[in-house]
Amino acid sequence: MSKDIIFQEVAPRDGLQIESTWVPTDDKVRLIDAFSTMGFGRIEVTSFVSPKAVPALRDADEVFARITRAPSVIYVGLVANLRGAERAIAAEADEINFVLSASETHNMANVRMASDQSLAAFRAVAERAKDAGALLNGSIATTFGCPFEGRIREDRVLEIVDAYRALGADGITLADTTGMANPAQVRRLVGRVLERVPAEALTLHFHNTRGLGLANVLAAREAGAIRFDAALGGLGGCPFAPGASGNICTEDAVNMAEEMGIATGIDLPALIALSRTLPALLGHDLPGQVMKAGRNCDLHAIPTPQSVAA
Ligand code: COA
Ligand code: ZN
Repeated sequence: MSKDIIFQEVAPRDGLQIESTWVPTDDKVRLIDAFSTMGFGRIEVTSFVSPKAVPALRDADEVFARITRAPSVIYVGLVANLRGAERAIAAEADEINFVLSASETHNMANVRMASDQSLAAFRAVAERAKDAGALLNGSIATTFGCPFEGRIREDRVLEIVDAYRALGADGITLADTTGMANPAQVRRLVGRVLERVPAEALTLHFHNTRGLGLANVLAAREAGAIRFDAALGGLGGCPFAPGASGNICTEDAVNMAEEMGIATGIDLPALIALSRTLPALLGHDLPGQVMKAGRNCDLHAIPTPQSVAA
């Protein structure tokens, strides 16, 4: 099916990494297998990081081994060091998504390295990924603002984009880790990055922490972006960034796109049904809106005098 916009589902990684409730491996596999049948071209399955840093994803290797792969789907594993890349390659991840932060302070809090050390680690990861034939993506956390440092210099972001590309990154992700981006900033920076990176290779990763997530999606689209991360139910958040909250909600974003006539290729009713299973799984309400309201076309019965009186 043709797609005018590409959504990568990241709930199994960004969504679950911050949950305090342990999600059993069986349930993770069930979620990912469901996403594989819904039209996603890309799913971020898990992260291969230290189990002490992110205990919620300590079963990453087993999850990867047990999912049922659809040939049309790229299965992604997030890594922060060479050890993680070795695990991702052993798990036969199709794509390795390496993360570092534009902010020195957040990089230190998140991966306990200076950003130059992270870039050195990326060099080693890139060599291993190429040898193994895996795709390689470079993510830049705190691109649009840092909870410790505030504003981030755009030129710093562009330097990291150039470094990633020079070291062999196939794709780049600009991540708004704690929802500090605004649409004017997004339009400007995405425009600058698209002078260096083709649209097919650029992903925007927005969190809805300040309610601007979908506005930022539209602003990035106006600047030419076509690929976006999103999480079922609006799950998500970085455990090492104070005040972090959910990613843009996949079904809300898909609903917006489809209502605007922008084809997503994603089975929205199935996605909503899956999202409605999350409160029972996680033991709390979720920020997603469409899972509560339904689609515009999910019409209600017309009130009758009897139903109004009841
Ligand atoms: N997978 C599994 N274990 C790992 C690992 C990996 N990729 N990298 C390191 N470890 C283990 C080490 O073996 C060591 O274990 P031990 O204490 O039992 O000996 C421990 O983790 C610490 O290793 P070290 O190399 O000293 O790392 P660190 O303490 O400096 O932490 C990271 C660096 C990158 C491993 C850690 O900060 C991390 O995993 N961060 C991920 C953050 C994240 O996922 N954030 C959200 C997504 S953006
Ligand atoms: Zn995120």
